Amino acid sequence: MNKIGVIFDLDGVIVDTAKYHYLAWKSVANKLGFEFTEEHNELLKGVSRVRSLEILLDIGGVQISEQKKQEYLVSKNEEYLGFITKMKADEILPGASELLDALDEAGIQYVLGSASKNAPLILKQLGLYDRFAGIVDGNSVSKAKPDPEVFLIGAKKLNLLPKQCVVFEDAIAGVEAANKAHMISVGIGDKNTLCEADYNFNDLTEIPVDFFEKLTTLN
Ligand code: BG6
Ligand code: MG
Repeated sequence: MNKIGVIFDLDGVIVDTAKYHYLAWKSVANKLGFEFTEEHNELLKGVSRVRSLEILLDIGGVQISEQKKQEYLVSKNEEYLGFITKMKADEILPGASELLDALDEAGIQYVLGSASKNAPLILKQLGLYDRFAGIVDGNSVSKAKPDPEVFLIGAKKLNLLPKQCVVFEDAIAGVEAANKAHMISVGIGDKNTLCEADYNFNDLTEIPVDFFEKLTTLN
C-alpha cells in the first residue's frame, strides 16, 4: 500500500467565510459608490486579497491610486477580522470534523493549503489549528492559486510526492492549482463549476468511508 496525504483548502471547505468576505467587500464597494452582489462575490472565491480588490474595482469600473488601494485593503481586512474573531467551532462546515477524525484514525496526515493570510487565526478560532501537520497560507506563497505553489509547499510539509497528495478545494482556481501540481483533486461544491476536478462531492459529508483506502491502492 502506498502512502497518501491530504491538503485542505480552508474557506469554503472547512468553514464558510465567504459570507464575511462578502460583507467586508460590500462595504468597500459602498464607499466607492457601487453595488456589490453575492453573484459578484463568487468571482472572489479562492482569489488572493489583492487580486480580489482588482476584480472589485473592475466590477465598479473604478480607478483609484495605489495609496487608496492600500487603505481599502486594510479597512476590508479590519472589518473581516471583526467577523472572524467572533467565529467558534459551531461554524465548522458539516462533515469536516468527522473527516479529520477519520484521517487521524487511518494515520493519514493532513496540512492546510489556503490563500488566506488569516488562515492560522481562523483555525485557532475553530479549535482546529493543532490538528494540522503543517499550515501553508497566503503569507507563505509568492504566487496565488491557480499557481500550484501553495500545494507543492504542502506536499513538502507532508514529505510526500505531489501524486501522493489529495487536495480538497471549493474554488475553480484551487482545483486548477491542484491539477497543475499533478495531485489528486477533489472538488467540494457544484459539480458543473468544478468539472475539472478528479472527484466531486457536494460537501464533506458525502466522502465515502473507503475513499482514502481506495486511493491508496490506486496510487
Ligand atoms: C481565500 C478566499 O481562501 O482567501 C478568498 O477564498 C480570499 O475569498 C483569500 O480573498 C484571501 O483571504 P485573506 O483572509 O488573506 O484576505
Ligand atoms: Mg476555498
